[in-house]
Amino acid sequence: MSGYTDSAYRQLVKSLAPRALVVSEFVSSDALHYGSQKTLRMLEYDPAEQPLIVQIFGKRPEHFAQAARLLESQGVAAVDINMGCPARKVVSSDHGSALLKNPQLAREIIESTVAAVQIPVSVKMRLGIENSDGLLDFARMVEDAGASLLTIHGRTARQQYTGTADYTDIYKVKEILKIPVVGNGDITSVADFDEQLKNLDGLMVGRATVGDPWLMAALAAHIAGESYTPPRTLAAKLPTILRHAQLLVATKGEAIGIREMRKYLASYVRGESGARALRQSLVRVETYTQAEQLLMTFVQQQTQ
Ligand SMILES: Cc1cc2nc3c(=O)[nH]c(=O)nc-3n(C[C@H](O)[C@H](O)[C@H](O)COP(=O)(O)O)c2cc1C
Repeated sequence: MSGYTDSAYRQLVKSLAPRALVVSEFVSSDALHYGSQKTLRMLEYDPAEQPLIVQIFGKRPEHFAQAARLLESQGVAAVDINMGCPARKVVSSDHGSALLKNPQLAREIIESTVAAVQIPVSVKMRLGIENSDGLLDFARMVEDAGASLLTIHGRTARQQYTGTADYTDIYKVKEILKIPVVGNGDITSVADFDEQLKNLDGLMVGRATVGDPWLMAALAAHIAGESYTPPRTLAAKLPTILRHAQLLVATKGEAIGIREMRKYLASYVRGESGARALRQSLVRVETYTQAEQLLMTFVQQQTQ
C-alpha cells in the first residue's frame, strides 16, 4: 500500500506475524529505469522482511524487465505487477488498472518480466474497469503469460474504494486457474477471513492493518490453529506503537520518519475514548520524544 507498507511497517508486521508475507508499496518501473535515487531508496529492506515481495507499476515491458532484474539482484523474493491501481494520476498515464483494458500490453509486460528473472512474478488486479465481464479471460491470460500467482481485489476500478468487495467472481477465477489465486478487499477480522477464503489460496489484507497490525498476528495464529490474544488497551499496544516509530526513525531519520508516523499514530488511537485532543497533538508531532510523551501521558491518565 503506497504511503504505508514501507520497510519500517513491513518489519513491524513481520515482528508480530513472522509467517505473514509482506508486499512493498508500489514502485515505478520507469523511475527505476531512470535511476531515481528516491525510488531506489524505496527498495531498501531488512532481511527480516523476507520473503519480501516488491510491487512495480508502469507500462513499458522493457522497464518492467529491467526493474525485475534489479530487484532479483537485490535479493527480493518475488515481483508483483500492479494492474489494479485506480488513482487518476496512475490511470491517466496508462499505468495500474488502465492495463486491464489493454490485455495485449498487459501480456507483454508479464512475459517480459517473467523472462527477465528466475524469481516468481505475480499480478495484482481489480475485477475490471467498469464491471467484471472480462475478468476470466484476463485471468487466463495472466496465467498463460507465466505469472505464478494472481491477487484480485473484489472491486472494479470505477468503484475506487466505494461499496464492498465482491468475492463471487474471484472464486470463479480460482476454479479455472492452476496458479494460486489470492482474494483481497475488506478483510478486517478472523471472521471475515473465514467467510471469504472459501476455495482461494490466500487472502491479502491492507487497510485494516493500519492502526491494527496485530490483526496479522491474529490471522496467522488462526491459520496455524494457535491461540492469540491481541492487545486491547492502549497501554498494552504502546510498546509496539513505539517500536513502529523507532523503526521509522531508524529507516528514514527522525524528521521524515516522525512526520510519516503521524498518520499511523492517529490510527493507533482511533476509537480510544477522550483521545480527540491527543489525536490533534499526535498529527503535529515533530520528534520521537514528543510522540512518546504524549502517548505515555495519555495512558497514565487512562489508568488513573
Ligand atoms: C492508501 C492506499 C494505498 C494503496 N496502495 C496500493 C499499492 O501500492 N499497490 C496495490 O496493489 N494496492 C494498493 N492499494 C490497494 C490495497 O492494496 C487493497 O487492494 C485495497 O485497499 C483493498 O484491500 P483492503 O480492504 O484490505 O484494504 C492501496 C490502498 C490504499 C487505501
